Amino acid sequence: MSEQAATTHFGFKTVATEEKETLVAGVFHSVAAKYDLMNDLMSFGIHRLWKRFTIDCSGVRKGHKVLDLAGGTGDLTAKFSRIVGETGQVVLADINDSMLKVGRDKLRNLGISGNVAFVQANAEALPFPDNHFDLITIGFGLRNVTDKAKALASMFRVLKPGGRLLVLEFSKPESEVMAKLYDLYSFKLLPKMGELVANDSESYQYLAESIRMHPDQETLKGMMEQVGFEDVSYYNLTQGVVALHRGYKY
Ligand SMILES: C[S@@+](CC[C@H](N)C(=O)[O-])C[C@H]1O[C@@H](n2cnc3c(N)ncnc32)[C@H](O)[C@@H]1O
Repeated sequence: MSEQAATTHFGFKTVATEEKETLVAGVFHSVAAKYDLMNDLMSFGIHRLWKRFTIDCSGVRKGHKVLDLAGGTGDLTAKFSRIVGETGQVVLADINDSMLKVGRDKLRNLGISGNVAFVQANAEALPFPDNHFDLITIGFGLRNVTDKAKALASMFRVLKPGGRLLVLEFSKPESEVMAKLYDLYSFKLLPKMGELVANDSESYQYLAESIRMHPDQETLKGMMEQVGFEDVSYYNLTQGVVALHRGYKY
C-alpha cells in the first residue's frame, strides 16, 4: 500500500487509514504492563525459541549497530546488547511510549544499559541516517504497521549495504490441520485468556484477527523484494504459524 488508500484493516474491521495508528496505539497502551506474561502464556514459552532462532540467523558480531524495530519490551534488544558489546550499539525503537517504558525498566533490571538507546519512532519514517545499521529486526511488529511497504522502504534506507533485515512475524500455517487448530486456539481461547489475565479480551481478539490479515510468506517475500531487498528467503517455524524472513541490501 504505497499510495495511501482511504481505508485499511484493523483486525477484521475496515477503518480510515489515518485511524489505524491510534487504534493500534490503544492496544499496546492497554497490554504493555502484562505483555511479557501474556507472551509466555499464549505461546507456551515458544516465542523464546522463535527469538533465539532470529538471533542465530542475524550474523551479528561485536561492534555491530543493530536496530530492534517495534522492539517493545526488549527481548531481542537484551540479547543483541550482549553480542555487540561495548563497541557496538542497539537501538530499540517503538512507536508506543508505554511499551518503551516497560522495555526500558526491564532492561535496566537486567543490568543492560550502556550500549542501548531507546527511540520513539514510527517504522514508516525512521529518524536515522541512510546506510546506518548492520542489522534490522522487526519482531511481531510489521503486522501492526499501517503502510507496510513504506516501512520496509524506510528500513531499506537505514540499512548499510551488506546489512540484513529479519522480519519475525505470524504467518500462514503449512497444513490445513494446523490452520484449523490454530484458528480454534486463536479465536476461541486467546481472547478468553486476555480477559482472564489482562482483563482485556478486545486486544487479544485484535491480535488473532491481525494475524489472519497479515500477508502470507510468499506475499511478504515479494513486498521485501519490491523495495529492493535481495536474496530474500524465509523459514517456517512451528509449521508456519510464524515465519522468519531474511533479506539483504547490497
Ligand atoms: C507484538 S509487539 C512486539 C514487541 C517485541 N518486538 C516482541 O517481539 O516481543 C508489537 C510492537 O510493535 C509496535 N508498533 C506498532 N506499530 C508500530 C509502528 N508503526 N512503528 C513502530 N513500532 C510499532 C507496538 O507498539 C508494539 O510494541
